[in-house]
Amino acid sequence: MTVSPLLIVVLAAGKGVRMRSALPKVLHPIGGRSMLAHVLATAGSLGPQTIAVVVRPGMEAVRAEAANAAPNIELFEQTEQLGTAHAVLAARAAIEHHAGTVLVVFADTPLIEGATLRRMIDVLDGGAHIAVLGFEPEDPTGYGRLIVDAQGRVQAIREERDALEAERRLRLCNAGAMAFRVPKLADLIARIGNANAKGEYYLTDAPAIAAAGGLMAVPIACSADEAIGVDSRVKLAAAEAVFQARARARAMDGGATLLAPETVWLSYDTTLGRDVVIEPNVFFGPGVTVEDGAHILANCHIVGTRIRSGARVGPFARLRPGADIGAEAHIGNFVEVKNARIEAGAKANHLAYIGDGRVGEGANIGAGTIFCNYDGFDKNFTDVGRGAFVGSNSSLVAPVKIGDGAYIGSGSVITSDVAPDALALERSAQDLRPGWAARFRRLKQNRKKGP
Ligand code: UD1
Repeated sequence: MTVSPLLIVVLAAGKGVRMRSALPKVLHPIGGRSMLAHVLATAGSLGPQTIAVVVRPGMEAVRAEAANAAPNIELFEQTEQLGTAHAVLAARAAIEHHAGTVLVVFADTPLIEGATLRRMIDVLDGGAHIAVLGFEPEDPTGYGRLIVDAQGRVQAIREERDALEAERRLRLCNAGAMAFRVPKLADLIARIGNANAKGEYYLTDAPAIAAAGGLMAVPIACSADEAIGVDSRVKLAAAEAVFQARARARAMDGGATLLAPETVWLSYDTTLGRDVVIEPNVFFGPGVTVEDGAHILANCHIVGTRIRSGARVGPFARLRPGADIGAEAHIGNFVEVKNARIEAGAKANHLAYIGDGRVGEGANIGAGTIFCNYDGFDKNFTDVGRGAFVGSNSSLVAPVKIGDGAYIGSGSVITSDVAPDALALERSAQDLRPGWAARFRRLKQNRKKGP
């Protein structure tokens, strides 16, 4: 079987009015990355020769996201939004330059799996000219219906507004993705008219035109979950739910225990090692790696962080970008860590802010410790040496360095460096008055008895 070169056309020019958002629809995130980036990642996994993305004029943020997600894409502008066939023709130059398979996908349908698209391409290798992705939704309202003949060929796709009553009762709907291996494809699509209820140029008219010309269009089925097209916030939430269910299953298959999987939120790139245990209500933003055997206790928010093997985090910890939690280290309740390396075996068990710093191996950060990293202009670094002990309620005013094995007395405000193995204490001497309390009580009680 010869491998046909692949061009993927991603349609991203729609207005997305039902999202009621200042953000272009395809930039809304699912699992921590935009729908467009999801679609481009799946497209890239098929090894295409070219990916063409069709955008609306002025969508600078969409252009930037596309370029960022897949550096070698080609961008095309659809100046007016006159329908999906019109949108495909915006990439006419790419289509005409290409000899091989053309796959059209929508940027607002982010959950179609690479293996599904591969099945569409494979059926073309087997001799079909067009593959149409179909699915059976619980509620088919709004979708185009596939009209399939007795030989299993797609004769036409009828958009709901243009469908007859009997056609509306058909269960198999158009998911949107279509693959073509047709000579002069651009000419075929250019023959599509706009004599329909919406007055749009529908790509879904392609199979009927192809069938009339003796070409063969076939349906390929996928699950309703994969086919979710996002055109509202409700559909966005539905797509997120499907994404999360898949990600949780993957994490558990990989050897992580999720005590209450439905309460753990994962990102597209969350990496969980073997024997990681995640308690309920944990949110992972992008960029988190949790190594083997680490334990995340309940109610943590973690973004851009590496948690090394055997570490224990939470409950109620907040780990922000650049946090690196060493092997067997402990980060306890109400501790926030940002851009800081906590080395192996170090502990910050309660109520602390550790920002822009290092906590050396085996060091202890007492309850209430604050790394004062910001002076209103710059962020400064705090370096706590290996085995150091920072007493509770201390403020370490950066830039400052605490030497290996040094002690900081509780309640100190440390503004200058502390030598290794020294004690630094910054507080007024304790005023001790023996018997004062008893005298005070007597005085008060005598007054109460009074005349
Ligand atoms: C489309 C299909 C319908 C299918 C449904 C699945 C057509 C005519 N209809 O309907 O059969 O059941 O998807 O979700 O294709 N777009 C552009 N430029 C345009 C118009 C659309 O780029 O001028 C893009 C949109 O950004 C979107 C996609 O094409 O990603 C689908 O367009 P939309 O008009 O929303 O089609 P549906 O009504 O969902």
